[in-house]
Amino acid sequence: MKPTTRPQNVNFSSGPCAKRPGWTLEALSKAVLGRSHRSKIGKARLEEVISLSKAVLGIPADYRLAIVAGSDTGAVEMALWTLLGARPVDLLAWEAFGKDWVTDVTKQLKLPNTRTFAAGYGALPDLRDVDFANDVVFTWNGTTSGVRVPNGDWIADDRQGLTICDATSAVFAMDIPWSKIDVCTWSWQKVLGGEAAHGMLALSPRAVERLESYKPAWPLPKLYRMTKDGKINEGIFKGETINTPSMLAVEDAVDGLKWAQSVGGLPALIKRSEANLAAIAKWQSSSNWAGFLAKDPATRSCTSICLKIIDPRVTPEAQPEVAKKIASLLEKEGVANDIGAYRDAPPGLRVWGGATVETADIVALLPWIDWAYQTALA
Ligand SMILES: Cc1ncc(COP(=O)(O)O)c(C=O)c1O
Repeated sequence: MKPTTRPQNVNFSSGPCAKRPGWTLEALSKAVLGRSHRSKIGKARLEEVISLSKAVLGIPADYRLAIVAGSDTGAVEMALWTLLGARPVDLLAWEAFGKDWVTDVTKQLKLPNTRTFAAGYGALPDLRDVDFANDVVFTWNGTTSGVRVPNGDWIADDRQGLTICDATSAVFAMDIPWSKIDVCTWSWQKVLGGEAAHGMLALSPRAVERLESYKPAWPLPKLYRMTKDGKINEGIFKGETINTPSMLAVEDAVDGLKWAQSVGGLPALIKRSEANLAAIAKWQSSSNWAGFLAKDPATRSCTSICLKIIDPRVTPEAQPEVAKKIASLLEKEGVANDIGAYRDAPPGLRVWGGATVETADIVALLPWIDWAYQTALA
């Protein structure tokens, strides 16, 4: 039997993610369009994204935050290309995006002194193996496996290397211990449901010190250059973007940040996201067919919530088809968009539970997932 209650918002994609509750195009009506982004009003809006982001996330006052090109990928690669090479590098990867950064460092930058700690989908590498005399590159939340680091306790306070963290599906939904992080990156389209466009790059004072004291052996494109005559270019961290941003996307980012403040700031955002995970965990605990891809409950993501089929009636060979069928049935029914697992991940479902997703919508979705599973099986 088909359930009768439908989610009000049926968007559960892991990026671009659901817009904030109540969002309409009206939210963009005051966008600075057709004007220079370097005009007083344009620059003020860009600065607002930086100051609101710092305020909501509780980023320390001595950290710098920039809006950069190329979304989260742009921000991560800007960090890798400008900072690495000064020390050996420890690379952690347990899903598709972490693996991308390993490829960048070992196959593109071709750095000689690297160690890669990899784990398969569902697991984390042993975090105790990391040497914090080295630079360390890792992803806070593996979006494609739904596995996150449980906290930052494993990161040394007295480290000599820099920690470079891709936190795009973690910030605004998980607690980031800033004193443990030297470089943090994210994009706009994830937890606050903004428009995809630009990346955010946060730098600790030690990261800035590296930029000012170390010059990579390779050429840097203009888009990556953050120093001028060996000194940090402060303008970049005050809204003077290196190249032209989309002021429509900027307006939307401001809207998302103001919404974040209106619901109670970071603690409220984390609570909303954790409630989404809790609703799915409760349902899963009495399910005879669905399991979490994350093996250790302490590492289950509250944003990209990844599920697999554990029913012995569905053979490993049949799993991709059954999982695809569930996602397509739900899309056809108009109750859930884009909840198939990531293309390189094991077959299953991925339900976004970030802060813009209402827990009532997750609760309404779950009986539909059961219905789709039974229908797919039949
Ligand atoms: C962990 C992680 N890193 C990087 C990316 C790439 O982000 P973008 O497309 O914003 O560059 C994503 C996108 O989902 C991601 O989840």
